[in-house]
Parts: sequence; structure tokens; C-alpha cells
Amino acid sequence: MLDLKKIRADFPILKREVNGKPLVYFDNAATSQTPQQVIDVIIDYYSNYNANIHRGVHALSQEATDKYEAARHTIQKHFNAKHAHEIIYTSGTTHSINLIANGFASLLKKGDEIIVSALEHHSNIVPWQMLCEKTGAILKVIPMNQDGELVMHEYDNLLNENTKLVFTNHISNALGTINPIEEIINKAHQVGAAVLIDGAQACPHVKPDVQDLDVDFYVASAHKMCGPTGVGMLYGKEEWLNKLPPYQGGGEMIAEVSFTKTTYAGLPHKFEAGTPNICGGIAFGAAIDYMNTIGFDAIAKYEHELLEYATKALIEIEGLKIYGTANNKTSVVSFNLEGIHPYDVGTILDKLGIAVRTGHHCAQPIMDFFKIPGTVRASFAFYNTKEEIDALVSGVKKAKMMLS
Ligand code: ALA
Repeated sequence: MLDLKKIRADFPILKREVNGKPLVYFDNAATSQTPQQVIDVIIDYYSNYNANIHRGVHALSQEATDKYEAARHTIQKHFNAKHAHEIIYTSGTTHSINLIANGFASLLKKGDEIIVSALEHHSNIVPWQMLCEKTGAILKVIPMNQDGELVMHEYDNLLNENTKLVFTNHISNALGTINPIEEIINKAHQVGAAVLIDGAQACPHVKPDVQDLDVDFYVASAHKMCGPTGVGMLYGKEEWLNKLPPYQGGGEMIAEVSFTKTTYAGLPHKFEAGTPNICGGIAFGAAIDYMNTIGFDAIAKYEHELLEYATKALIEIEGLKIYGTANNKTSVVSFNLEGIHPYDVGTILDKLGIAVRTGHHCAQPIMDFFKIPGTVRASFAFYNTKEEIDALVSGVKKAKMMLS
């Protein structure tokens, strides 16, 4: 059982009002809120030991370096990576994916095949299209069904000896579908393909074990899991990270530089050119610590309760259709009211203090599949309550009355 009163007290923003109403924050899939424990770490960094890392002999630089590297170990432990140097700090999931896509440009040739899923966010489509343009590789797509689940026997048909890479999200941001990533990874490995899993939407809800999954690359963003924006991580198996060339050149990623030749630093620095988001990295570690204090089993159980509660109440509204009805899904409800544009529903909900996301959720192919312009998406976190869902349901009823 989660102590909701205590948890909610950790999040200062949940005390505020929007448009004269108590804030109901249901846009967690876009970004989660930040607990005081993480805010304090950010304040402490800038108040007490703001300095550049890995460079200075002075005390502040050493302190910042130690905390930044300690956070890397926290991330390593959380994802159960074998080595801390398999964790690369990035600016977020999009950066992580682009880093890998860029690296594979030198490893692919014309006719090689890449598989993505129909459930992808644009950030896990566009970089691969760019990679295909560069290399002549071919992009193939695992289709989805009307419930928003991947059609796995079609995946079997796509895999062959030309398949070099497979990319899917762990959980769909637009529909909440939890994808069968163990099966996706195992089958890809059987044909010798590498697998990248986009965990941006999964990490707020589950604790992935990258060794157990035997995944080649796993990527995530801090801001979806109670951390700050502008920082994320890339896990890569050591042998893959050694094989990939650096993404950006600059300070910090080198061993030796002269005008005739540069040699690169070892992992993880080879991929970390320039001054990073030092405070963000440290706060990412604090966010992971915070979430583990709450406990991922308890989080998953409670969020499932919220999902069932919301789904049951929302489908009773006549003319409301939910998109994404997979058996295995997380706490995301994407829906539309018949004949009403999602943006209009979102605007009325906002007037009532309820934050949802409306639109295509950076997943236009999913909207095209359902032949809709977008959806209203309510995404729940462990600090949300059933009373807040009641407010959403009554807000949707109100929007329907006003807009019909
Ligand atoms: N990818 C984020 C979302 O789903 C921004 O809203």
C-alpha cells in the first residue's frame, strides 16, 4: 500500500491551483513531476558545489565529479548493467537513440534491414529513416492490431539473415501498450540482430534488468521518472559501445589530440563530449533513489488500480472511445469523444485545472492507423488519486455537454 498523503506531500507542485481549481496532473507520460527530495539536490548543487567535472584539481570540481559518477553507479545498479561505463549520460532518450543511429551508419550497408514497430514515437522512427537514407538499409515495420498490440507472427516473418537491428519501445507513449520485449529481443538475437529498447515510457512504471533481458541497448529519460529535463541515459553492452564510433567530437571524449591525429577516450567518456548536464545527472540519481524508496512493485500495482478505475468510469460515457485496449498496458488512457476534436476537450479540462495531453503524441503513424487526428491522453503516476480520476470523468462529461 502506498501512503498517498505522504507521497503527495513530497511534490510541491501538487499543492498549486490552475484556473482557480486544484491542479489535477494527468500529463505524466509527457513529463513527471519532481519531488522535494530531487529539488533539494538541485538546489544543493548550485548552492554548494557547482563546478565542471573531470577537469579541475580544486575541491568543488572533485566534489561535483564524485557525485556525478556516484549517480552513474546508481543508474547502473538500477538497470543492473554489468559495468558503470556501460551507462552513457545523454540529454535524453532522443539523444540516446540518435547516438546509436549515428554510430550504426558505419556498420550498415545497402540492403541490410532494420525493424521498428508500428507503435513508435517519432524519435524512434525518424533517426532510423535518416540512417536508411545514409546507408541504403531498408526499414520494415511490425504491424499493430486494433487493440494497439504488436502482431508478433508478422514480426517472425520480417526477421531474416539481413536483419541487423530491431528497435521498439518497451511501452507505447500514445496507447500504454506494454510490448513483449523479451520475445522481441530473443527472436532478434536468433538471426544475429542487435536490439534497442526505448524505455522512456517504461521506466516510470517498471524496473528493467538489462542483463536479464540480454538487451543490446536500452535508453531512458530522467524527466519521465521524477528527475529533471535535459538528461537521460543510454545503456549499451560494452562490446557494442566499443564497436560504435563517437557521436560528437570535443573535450572530454579524447585520449590524445594533435592536428594530425586524435585518439578517443575509453568508455563512457568517448560518448560524452563537452560539459554535460552535471546537476541533471546528479539529480537523475536522486530521482532513481526516490522512486526506489517508493518501490516499483507498489507503483505498478497502484497504477494498475488507477488504470482500471479510470477505464471503467470513462467507457460508461456514451460516445467515448478508448484507443489502446491491449491486455498488457500501463496507466495511460487515450480517448476521444465522438464528433469532438481532442484539442477542444483538452481546453475545457484545462479550465477545470486538469492537465492532459491532446494531439498525436509524436506518434502520427498510430493516429493514421486509427484514422483520427489525435486523442486526449490521460496518463497517471503513483502520486495521482481516484478522486482526481473522478474529477477527470466529470470534466469529460462537462466537455461533452458543452461541445455536443
Ligand atoms: N514523448 C512525450 C509524450 O509522450 C513527450 O508526451
